[in-house]
Amino acid sequence: MGGGIIVVGSINLDMVVLSPVIPGPGESICAGDFQMVPGGKGANQAVAASRLGNHTFLLGRVGVDHFGDILIQNLESCGVETSLVRRTESAKTGVALIVIEGETGDNTIVVAPGANSEVSVEDLDSLDPYFRQAHSILFQFEIPVEVISEGAKRARDNGVVTILDAGPPRGVDITYCRDFDVVSPNRSELAALTGQPVSDIETALRSARVITGEGVPTVAVKMGETGSLLVTREGAWHFPAYAVKAVDGTAAGDAFTAALATALGEGMELPRAMRFANAAGALAVTVFGAQPSMPTRAQVEELMESQKSEEESWKRID
Ligand code: RIB
Repeated sequence: MGGGIIVVGSINLDMVVLSPVIPGPGESICAGDFQMVPGGKGANQAVAASRLGNHTFLLGRVGVDHFGDILIQNLESCGVETSLVRRTESAKTGVALIVIEGETGDNTIVVAPGANSEVSVEDLDSLDPYFRQAHSILFQFEIPVEVISEGAKRARDNGVVTILDAGPPRGVDITYCRDFDVVSPNRSELAALTGQPVSDIETALRSARVITGEGVPTVAVKMGETGSLLVTREGAWHFPAYAVKAVDGTAAGDAFTAALATALGEGMELPRAMRFANAAGALAVTVFGAQPSMPTRAQVEELMESQKSEEESWKRID
């Protein structure tokens, strides 16, 4: 079970406020609890990969500050190998400002990337000995795109499966997807990447086809309560969501992507891999905060077992 996964990506401290509503432009709201929680898409995916049974290596950067200390300590306590996490003098540790809507668990996130912006192509040189230990490598768009592109090329040259969690894609050219074996956006990320509106399964399928049209073999679209969509050159399939009580949607997509990488690395068949990823994403929604909500392998398997009827309900849509 499990294997080696490399994650190259962001490490943030999340400043989270639980609010009755998400304020609109110009609006102030005085209500809600505040918490600081370890986050960052890269770090979240590394924690998820580790909890799902992989030997996990994270490459990223934090500042020489207290937040950086907290985040590295937490990663280590979650079993993530942090020797590739560098401390950078010239920028502070990344921070994300998050508002969670109490009733629905929906969120808005603004990231001050800080040290994450300093992850460089040169940093990738330290990956060479790690490629031999990994079946897959995960990237997201919270570090400079040239690092993502070059890192994916090097991984492919070393026979490692390249996976892109396409968040947040603001201003990113879709051609950056070409270096990846698997691209996994959520609905808004898919819309931003393709320039097409995405609201339902039909529009998601149409937009995912734009990404496969770029030469990406597999696109896995995260659709929240609508489940997920698998689109390959051979066809397209819809996988319904597991039924859970939503508390906080933060990092659900990170759990999904890490679980998909885990499943593919273990050679699970694609339908089971998608259900495994769906279950991990669903569980992440049930717990407040990013890294605290990343599920263990046992929790994922238990949810899959407890909602077994879901197993039969995925279907081919194209
Ligand atoms: O995917 C959720 C993450 O996005 C948060 O933890 C936040 O840090 C941002 O990177």
